[in-house]
Amino acid sequence: MTTATAQAHPNIAFIKYWGDLDPCLRIPSNGSLSMNLAGLETRTRVSFDVLLQGDHVTVNGQVMGGAGLERVSALLDRVREMACMRPFARVESENNFPMGAGIASSASAFAALALAASSAAGLSMSEQQLSRLARSGSGSACRSVPGGFVEWQAGQTDEESYAFSIAPAGHWDLVDCIVVVSQVHKPVGSTEGHALALTSPLQSARVADALRRLDLCRRAVCERDFEAFADIVELDSNLMHAVMITSTPPLLYWQPATVAVMRAVQDWRNGGLPVCYTIDAGPNVHILCPGEQADEVEERLQSIEGVQQVLMARPGGPAKLV
Ligand code: DP6
Repeated sequence: MTTATAQAHPNIAFIKYWGDLDPCLRIPSNGSLSMNLAGLETRTRVSFDVLLQGDHVTVNGQVMGGAGLERVSALLDRVREMACMRPFARVESENNFPMGAGIASSASAFAALALAASSAAGLSMSEQQLSRLARSGSGSACRSVPGGFVEWQAGQTDEESYAFSIAPAGHWDLVDCIVVVSQVHKPVGSTEGHALALTSPLQSARVADALRRLDLCRRAVCERDFEAFADIVELDSNLMHAVMITSTPPLLYWQPATVAVMRAVQDWRNGGLPVCYTIDAGPNVHILCPGEQADEVEERLQSIEGVQQVLMARPGGPAKLV
């Protein structure tokens, strides 16, 4: 039996991945850029065992079956093929953050799985190869392999589509205040959502302008220019939600409290506080601000009606073996 344990952080995208060029390989329609979230993590232990009759997966102690298990097995199959081995695996995964809090666990889960599984299989993979392997399980997981501030180069083939760090975690003290307004499980997940993107007449315009937004965001992060950063991050989030709302069927993830937080953040920024929002495929809102303003922003967020919980996360490191 061979075993390895790995740990990875989830990430928040500043420039979003929405829609696939190739849904099987998870080659995205556009490049994206994110920050890993320190303090939040998935820890995954993989053991290949000749005595197992099939892959056995638990997440936070619950046995996984159905489509979730198939998705994990598909990644394990890739590893078995690369390592020329046959045994099934026991996978035990734990998240230290609440599952219903609207923080995508698939990114940290598949990044940790890629590293633990490849290592347990005796493969020594480069960061780029690991990022590609993680991507096959969940697109955004490729961005949880490198550390800090990370760009996913879209590419057009499996070899070209991977993520790399543009700055380490210590580069910029940026804080993500994760505002939980609903713990209800989202009705349409990201995988289904990506497949609907092209039904929106706005997706082609969104994708056509994506390289420009990516360039502006990369520059703002590298120069720690919060003002430029805030403008481009909100524009990119709004564009993705415009596509979602105009898809067939339409995807409207926002709740009244989502909009209340968006409005408050806009008012605060107009009043001189450096702060901006970004929203993924769910009702919860990620509020970004420089570290010096984090306490003030947290306090203001707690006073908005409908806000259930605020989690704070600073830039996090790469996926690693533990
Ligand atoms: C809105 O990576 O979760 O969070 O590849 O189907 O697992 P799958 O999709 P996923 O999509 C992320 C969508 C997003 C934006 C982003 O993180 O870039």
